[in-house]
Amino acid sequence: MNHKKDLYILGIETSCDETAAAIVKNGTDIVSNVVASQIESHKRFGGVVPEIASRHHVEQITIVLEEAFAQADMTFDDIDAIAVTEGPGLVGALLIGVNAAKALSFARGIPLVGVHHIAGHIYANRLVQDIQFPALALVVSGGHTELVYMKEHGSFEVIGETLDDAAGEAYDKVARTMGLPYPGGPHIDKLAQKGEANVPLPRAWLEEGSYHFSFSGLKSAVINTLHNASQKGETIAPEDLSASFQESVIDVLVTKTERAANAYGVKQVLLAGGVAANKGLRAALEKTFSSHPEIELLIPPLSLCTDNAAMIAAAGTVAFEKGIRGKYDMNGQPGLDLTSY
Ligand code: KG4
Ligand code: ZN
Repeated sequence: MNHKKDLYILGIETSCDETAAAIVKNGTDIVSNVVASQIESHKRFGGVVPEIASRHHVEQITIVLEEAFAQADMTFDDIDAIAVTEGPGLVGALLIGVNAAKALSFARGIPLVGVHHIAGHIYANRLVQDIQFPALALVVSGGHTELVYMKEHGSFEVIGETLDDAAGEAYDKVARTMGLPYPGGPHIDKLAQKGEANVPLPRAWLEEGSYHFSFSGLKSAVINTLHNASQKGETIAPEDLSASFQESVIDVLVTKTERAANAYGVKQVLLAGGVAANKGLRAALEKTFSSHPEIELLIPPLSLCTDNAAMIAAAGTVAFEKGIRGKYDMNGQPGLDLTSY
């Protein structure tokens, strides 16, 4: 019989434009998951405005925490540790979550655990299914594009990353040029489903064998294509431009992920980050890995791909079990590196 007590971790996430709190049991089961999105407030500025984000986090943090406990029907007495996003992200935004976590930890005598935002995105997968090692995570978000090799829980080796723009950033910038609302990723994705990839655009393969990415050249190529067309008085169907841009991004992401998965002999490929919501990317990965029965592809549901606190609690559980504890001098770290624990 297993006498191990269940572990309940409270997760807090405020690194960008979502204020989120969640309670996760044993690193795998969501007990409650509350996300307050600020997208509506940032939309009219075409991107996240840091000062506005911080102010919203201050207003929302207590409300989302109360809601997370109400949904779970639990109190602080039931919580074993508080996991909070320590970085990377907007410093003023991170500080709201970190200070809330530190205050609660101090007041209630509950251990504190700092979590890397990308470890959180990767661990969203564990809320769906057990992770089998070695595993490879493709992390694609507004701020990150990385291939992360994991030989065991809490072990992260970044084998490839973007040299310039992140995939989501490229989506958002291209969308902005096309006059689409912020965040542009979902809009381009939707248009792409209805278009044909008939606009020639580059793919940045970089040097032979490289697992790194680059999306700024592609972004510039889209912008130049639009300008040239408008100078000649021509129009390009936004559906076709979206489909062409999306195909360029996906082609590189999927090809490099497949190559790395083979080279590292992984058992699973984990998709992570906001761009994991992309229908085209999901379909292309499913198609590619259907011809690799030895590799299992995990794709979390859309609600767990974008920023949330359940993923922070899931990653925090592993860190907590490995004995990692945050101190009261914890600070928001905008440039925090992803390190193993
Ligand atoms: O992970 P996330 O919520 O925040 C960061 O940590 O960055 O990712 C947000 C990013 C945005 O750039 C957004 O445009 C992109 O994810 N995104 C998408 C889709 N849904 C969200 N990009 C492409 N296709 C989508 N369906
Ligand atoms: Zn994120």
